[in-house]
Amino acid sequence: MTTMVEDTRSWHLRHGDWRALKDHAIPIRHAVFILEQNVPESLELDELDANCHHWLVLDYQGSGIATGRLTPTGHIGRLAVLAPWRGQGIGRAIIKDMLRYARENGRDRIVLNAQTHAIGFYSALGFVAEGPEFDDAGIPHRRMVYGRHQGA
Ligand code: COA
Repeated sequence: MTTMVEDTRSWHLRHGDWRALKDHAIPIRHAVFILEQNVPESLELDELDANCHHWLVLDYQGSGIATGRLTPTGHIGRLAVLAPWRGQGIGRAIIKDMLRYARENGRDRIVLNAQTHAIGFYSALGFVAEGPEFDDAGIPHRRMVYGRHQGA
């Protein structure tokens, strides 16, 4: 099952479960994380996907162009926008809708592990970095928190 969220002239945003969205989400994550960022393939897909809520942006030909996921414990991850589509507000639209969805489902504190280059992107959306930088899959990260009890 998927739900339409936002519809612009060139792309539209949906969210739904893994079964409904994985055929589009997997190739986007493969292009961004494995091919572009050299994340090992064995780390990219994990056992969490089946239990997460997923977001997908499609262009008007029905091709997947961006994705992301929210775990049942309120952790945002796997946010990826295909390179030609960056800088058009798509990543922001996904995060804002994740925050709306989390709020409506009674979760007011969201965490994520931000690649350090993306800290400014998440800060502009209200996330606050905390703790030291750490390595994950060869990429420097920092934990960021949104919402009540920030830093708790
Ligand atoms: N650092 C700081 N600011 C950034 C940024 C970055 N890396 N990427 C975008 N922004 C800013 C934009 O300039 C824009 O600001 P504005 O409102 O003043 O114009 C705002 O954040 C929203 O940007 P948006 O166009 O919605 O971002 P995007 O669709 O390009 O998505 C990413 C951003 C990070 C998701 C995208 O670059 C991406 O997929 N990168 C590769 C995968 C990745 O690194 N994922 C994040 C893992 S933590």
